[in-house]
Amino acid sequence: MKKTVLSVLALLALLCGSCDRDAKLVEENIANAEVQLSALLAQSLEGEQVRIPSSYRDGQVRFVPTRDWVSGFFAGSLWYMYELTGEEKWAEAARTHTEHLHDIQYLTGHHDVGFMINSSYCNGRRLKHLTEPYDTIIVNAAKSLCTRFRPEAGVLQSWNVDRGWQAKRGWACPVIIDNMMNLELLFKASLISGDDTFRNIAISHADKTIEHHYRPDYSTWHVVDYDPATGAIRGKYTAQGAADESAWARGQAWSLYGYTMAYRFVRDERYLQQAENVVKFLFAHPNMPADLVPYWDFDAPNIPNEPRDVSSAAIIASALYELYGFTLNGEYKELADKILVSLSSPAYRAAQGENGGFLLMHSVGSIPHNSSIDVPLNYADYYFLEALVRKQNVENGQVVVDL
Ligand code: GLY
Repeated sequence: MKKTVLSVLALLALLCGSCDRDAKLVEENIANAEVQLSALLAQSLEGEQVRIPSSYRDGQVRFVPTRDWVSGFFAGSLWYMYELTGEEKWAEAARTHTEHLHDIQYLTGHHDVGFMINSSYCNGRRLKHLTEPYDTIIVNAAKSLCTRFRPEAGVLQSWNVDRGWQAKRGWACPVIIDNMMNLELLFKASLISGDDTFRNIAISHADKTIEHHYRPDYSTWHVVDYDPATGAIRGKYTAQGAADESAWARGQAWSLYGYTMAYRFVRDERYLQQAENVVKFLFAHPNMPADLVPYWDFDAPNIPNEPRDVSSAAIIASALYELYGFTLNGEYKELADKILVSLSSPAYRAAQGENGGFLLMHSVGSIPHNSSIDVPLNYADYYFLEALVRKQNVENGQVVVDL
């Protein structure tokens, strides 16, 4: 009996030790983010002007226009700072940056309106119960995204093919795995409006993506080109990866996050299974580094002398916490924790006062386009903060995230 009591006490002491460590990891990251993001926020507000920080290069913070696909992430990071600290100053700043994106609700020129509005307006709605005009804007944005639905193919077209570098590829209806992320906006728009059209389009897109985007090992092609008139597959390619047949790291991260999120709304076991199969691909891969921060492509030609992509690691960590909430498979939480420990180390997290105010270093935008290589990126910070929120929730026994 005495022995059993002692073992229970020893186990509790061990668990409390790990609770302490977990709480400290989150607290310490919040304290760091307060310093860094305060500096970045100050740079983003110049008099009446609102500027959207996206990256930092050559000693300068880079800003993007509202139509850029990354325009919602800084607002979203500010919302997560509010969620993590409860301090009104972050909510006020988040509202300023969110409402600066007002016109994005009408953007129909690419699929990324989902990323942009979900990270900004949907987080504001969730955290501050802001209904109008937020609800109208969210539903209008979903309508804009749905103008890209190609019913014969059953998918949302990602990119236009009449200009820019995409025009040179000979595609008709390119769909990229990243597009799974835009479905979150559609699921929420259906819940807000009561109109199932958005949800049905999202389900069609997710089902077609399972059918056509995956290889037998559950890695994904980056781009699948459909014939919009018949739904036939014209070809499978890469845009941002090392080769058509390679596994571009962020694409694999979007794939894991996308099906985990889709399961949250649809509860279709196939989506959960897909996410779990992607986890197996990622963590059994011989090129996954020991610190679980992937190279920019799992098949990059010069591994280990290739850039890492911290943004992929942050997206994967956030997705794993949600997947843990659905499965209670402790392995997923352990993997996510390990990624957060890596990202919180000086190898990846910038020293205070450096990195232009961004939290994380060493992300990759697109190597084939020679764009944003080994730099901070605002979406790496966004998903890192989201992972911290989710970790805090998991540690508090609140495992399923709010819609
Ligand atoms: N959706 C663009 C990217 O992941 O780079």
